Amino acid sequence: MNILIVDDEVVSRKTLHRLMERFGDCKSVENGADALKMAMFENPPDLILLDIMMPHMDGYEVCERLKADPQTKDVPVIFLSANTRTEDITRGLELGAVDYITKPFQKAEVIARAQTHLSLQEMRKHLSSQNIILEKQISEIKEKTEQLRQKDIQLIEMDRMAGIGTLAAGIAHEINTPLGFVKSSISGLKKGMGKMAGAIRYWDDKPGSEPLVKAYLDYLAKTDCDRLMDSFDSKFDRIQRGIERIMKIVNSLKSFSRLDMEPVGKMDINQSIEDAVEILNIPEDKTIDFVKKLLQDVPRIECSVSEINQCLLHVLNNAIDAVDHQGIITISTSYNEKEERVTVRIIDNGKGMSPDVLRQALNPFFTLKAVGSGTGVGLSLTERIIKRHGGTIHISSKEDEETTVTMTLPVVGKCAGDMANR
Ligand SMILES: Nc1ncnc2c1ncn2[C@@H]1O[C@H](COP(=O)(O)OP(=O)(O)O)[C@@H](O)[C@H]1O
Ligand SMILES: [Mg+2]
Repeated sequence: MNILIVDDEVVSRKTLHRLMERFGDCKSVENGADALKMAMFENPPDLILLDIMMPHMDGYEVCERLKADPQTKDVPVIFLSANTRTEDITRGLELGAVDYITKPFQKAEVIARAQTHLSLQEMRKHLSSQNIILEKQISEIKEKTEQLRQKDIQLIEMDRMAGIGTLAAGIAHEINTPLGFVKSSISGLKKGMGKMAGAIRYWDDKPGSEPLVKAYLDYLAKTDCDRLMDSFDSKFDRIQRGIERIMKIVNSLKSFSRLDMEPVGKMDINQSIEDAVEILNIPEDKTIDFVKKLLQDVPRIECSVSEINQCLLHVLNNAIDAVDHQGIITISTSYNEKEERVTVRIIDNGKGMSPDVLRQALNPFFTLKAVGSGTGVGLSLTERIIKRHGGTIHISSKEDEETTVTMTLPVVGKCAGDMANR
């Protein structure tokens, strides 16, 4: 340790020097100016023994200046003085000194006090170096947390993109069916119109005479005009229904993916469920009955609408995957007024999960589906999104019977502000 002795009295300075040598590197100076120079421009000492009565600059002033400099303010100072008046001692301590020894001093006392303050100083230094390490670790942890958060956002985004891909394929299929019958109806109409046009032209060419009227009526009978007209009606109906179906799908997609909305909004969960069901991709070999028990006037939920939509799609797609050729998926919404929370429950009568599968279902990358048809991130992402919204997700299941997924969300978004910043 480094000790600095400041005393204008040669005998006292030398005695102190001898006493302090046992603690390490010891330097002595005879006036305040030298003391400041040494303390401030070299490595700050670990302890200063400071005489008060000195010419030019007294010990009090030296102490005051040391305490005013950030580099030396923590160096412990012990005053040594022949002044034994309480106010002198108090003044010294008030200036920031750690101790005050009266002269003439007992050698053992000086050694003991110096020892105490050097140990304290050593501990202080150790603590402050530990503190620096801790602060570094905290900032590393903060950085890692931020990296994880970014990864999380990336994963959600990737999942959303993959979801959009699946949605697009499903929608293309959904739209193709009505488009198919619009197309066939139009070509039927075109043929029929051709026959009608033929009849009209026939009349135009041969106006007037009675036999011609008869001939025309024969012609009309041959072309089966009434039936033709009836088929026109049904074809126009089919075209209209086809176009309405396409419009419904497009509108559902638009409101479901919230293409024109901000990241945080007020979600009408019932509408989202209706839209999700409309755009779900149901494999051709499955017939699924969607039973909707939606609470009327359920309050709107403050949330990231697209993320919660993503969750709905994940759970509904899992339900579709779980059911066999003939399935029933029941979707219900309810509201707990006291807790101001909305609950969405999705029950399927599919293959269910064993306790072992159920335990792992929420783990990231856990999947029982074939490569290419399952990624295993659906439920884990859903859980993360729901939890970030201050909600809960609970899954219960009976193997070979049914699975129930219950998601509860607070009406007032817990982290709406946070999400808006993303
Ligand atoms: N409704 C359900 N019925 C039966 N099993 C389910 C159901 N939902 C999820 N699972 C099981 O949990 C696993 C993980 O689901 P998820 O995280 O969505 O990933 P993925 O659907 O890509 O496999 C599924 O592979 C499936 O085994
Ligand atoms: Mg899934």
